[in-house]
Amino acid sequence: MITLTTPPITPYGTDATLASLLGAIAARGQGFASCIDDTALLRDIQTYAAAVEGRYSDIVVLGIGGSALGARTIRNALVNPYQSTVPRLHVVDTIDPQLLQDLSHSLPLSSTLFLVISKSGHTTETLSQYCYFRHRLLAARLPLQEHMLFITDPLHGVLRPLAEAEGIRAFPIPPNVGGRFSVLTAVGLLPAALLGVDITAMLSGASAIRERFLSSSVAENTCYQYACVLHQQAEAGRNISVLMPYSKRLQTLGSWYAQLLAESTGKRTSAGQHVGLTPVAAMGPTDQHSQLQLYAEGPDDKQFTFLTIATQPLLPIMAEQHIPWQSHLSGVDFAQLLHAEYQATRDSLQELGRPVSTLTIPQLDARTLGALFFFLEGTVALLGEMLGINAFDQPGVERSKELTRQYLQRLH
Ligand code: PA5
Repeated sequence: MITLTTPPITPYGTDATLASLLGAIAARGQGFASCIDDTALLRDIQTYAAAVEGRYSDIVVLGIGGSALGARTIRNALVNPYQSTVPRLHVVDTIDPQLLQDLSHSLPLSSTLFLVISKSGHTTETLSQYCYFRHRLLAARLPLQEHMLFITDPLHGVLRPLAEAEGIRAFPIPPNVGGRFSVLTAVGLLPAALLGVDITAMLSGASAIRERFLSSSVAENTCYQYACVLHQQAEAGRNISVLMPYSKRLQTLGSWYAQLLAESTGKRTSAGQHVGLTPVAAMGPTDQHSQLQLYAEGPDDKQFTFLTIATQPLLPIMAEQHIPWQSHLSGVDFAQLLHAEYQATRDSLQELGRPVSTLTIPQLDARTLGALFFFLEGTVALLGEMLGINAFDQPGVERSKELTRQYLQRLH
């Protein structure tokens, strides 16, 4: 379902190397690979989505980081942005007062559902959004139980007791699934189901890739092969990793992946060494006209991955053969033009010795999107082990949170 072509690299490790990396990941007790088997949760989500179908015009995700990027990626990949279908999904991963005010003034509160999403249940940005919109709902005399829903850890964090105290329904996030690995839990699946996305297909795509990820055969495990490319190129000094989908609908996948790669790999090893790959979310062909010059002639510190979709809607350009400036486009459709631009960009970089990989999916739908999510998660998990770090924690962000709390205290 996902095909991978890579630059020539030094031989992949042996099956035994791969088996030991998979063993190391298993030993971390993470749930990102097993969470896709939760059929009870799948049923609960589908039942809830069916029960509220037609009830809400607007769904607002209040969350940040891994609690927001997945839902935005799914919406942007699978929903026609120009059709005014309801419900509309707004992903509010900000505390920008201007934006919050704009949103608040525009929302029809009586037909809005707020999904408050936080794994830890104590993220300041999300809790502040919750406070604000809770107040707005109460001021409008609307019942919180009908207009709010929580997605959070089953036991910890402040949202759990709040859910009980206020009678607000709460869906669980498995305790062993971290934020940036949670798109295939209720965090991504519930907003997706509310948008009418086929989440069973999404999970089945993920499950198909999981089979490869769990294989200790180097020849079968494409996550491992791709992780090897990322690792080897980083070791060779190219630790900036550009992901460039040739698809407007997959642009946000680049932002989702940027968080996954950056927060998972940017670490200090136990020996005190600083490691990590710096993600760049680009998009073709748009960034041919803004970034490509740097990619071609700038420092040789980058590796590139193109993401292409084999089958796209057939949309002829309608150029006229007899008009000279149009003749090279005549008989050509937009998918062919897009593909030619991808090939040309790829080849022009390769001619300059820049390392290029390509991921191709047969078409863009819920199944292939689920496959891509899992493929990238599996790759990053393996890459973490290759780098000798824990891909699943984020100790480096704690200090900033602590300082924020201190600065807020000074305001009292
Ligand atoms: O990947 C992570 O763990 C983080 O980026 C979180 O997703 C982010 O900090 C939001 O955390 P929470 O879901 O606990 O509110």
